[in-house]
Amino acid sequence: MIDLHCHILPGIDDGSKDLETSLQMCRIAKSNGIKHIVATPHVNAIEDIESFVSFRDEKIRTLRKAVEHAGIELNIYPGAEVFVDDDIYFANNLKRLSINKSRYILIEFSFRNLDVRRVFGYVEEIMRMDLIPIIAHPERFEFFQFDYDAVNALSDMGVLFQINSMSLASMDGPQEFELAYAMAYNAVASFIGTDAHSSHYRTNNLLEMMSYFPPDISQFNMQMMVHDAAKCVLLDQDLPRVERGIIEKRGF
Ligand SMILES: [Fe+2]
Repeated sequence: MIDLHCHILPGIDDGSKDLETSLQMCRIAKSNGIKHIVATPHVNAIEDIESFVSFRDEKIRTLRKAVEHAGIELNIYPGAEVFVDDDIYFANNLKRLSINKSRYILIEFSFRNLDVRRVFGYVEEIMRMDLIPIIAHPERFEFFQFDYDAVNALSDMGVLFQINSMSLASMDGPQEFELAYAMAYNAVASFIGTDAHSSHYRTNNLLEMMSYFPPDISQFNMQMMVHDAAKCVLLDQDLPRVERGIIEKRGF
């Protein structure tokens, strides 16, 4: 399996605090069937992309060396989780933050006070830069939890979505689960990531999490979300065409 969203690099953001924690996370990943991890540290200010990239690459080199030394068979790729706000309209060379130098970029937004219409503006701007936005954990944003149509519309535009394994395993809130499940069931989500930050809380125990996923998500969708789509991202290829459904909010 491939984990497209993981804070596995030591001492760069609020994820792994040191190299030993990172190595422990690598061991957990390996024993949970993960063979490839995209390291996605937070980028909260996009004005100094170059210093972020060189610091991140140095951390990747350190971790790769330690992983090899420890005999853990695991591939680590460069990426970032880019916080997007109005500064996006002034961003230069955003492509430097894409996943493994591909056309795909993992983005997130503010959890508060964000009008969903602004999200449309942001992704249009990113697509204008010839990048394909992958929205990290859409199910965690309140503005999507109450507006499934916005998710459908973004999906129609070609925006991609990565849901968190914890949400689909019902380990987050019920609103998060409901949206993640609807997206997984209807193939609106293309990726499942662990968004792991440590070796204990919210870790990358994907296989264990999967045992709590609803059993009626098709094998095809699961395979796409834990491997096939992410492989295309790493290789900078188009994603396979899938029959997407439309998500609808249940209840009142
Ligand atoms: Fe994250």
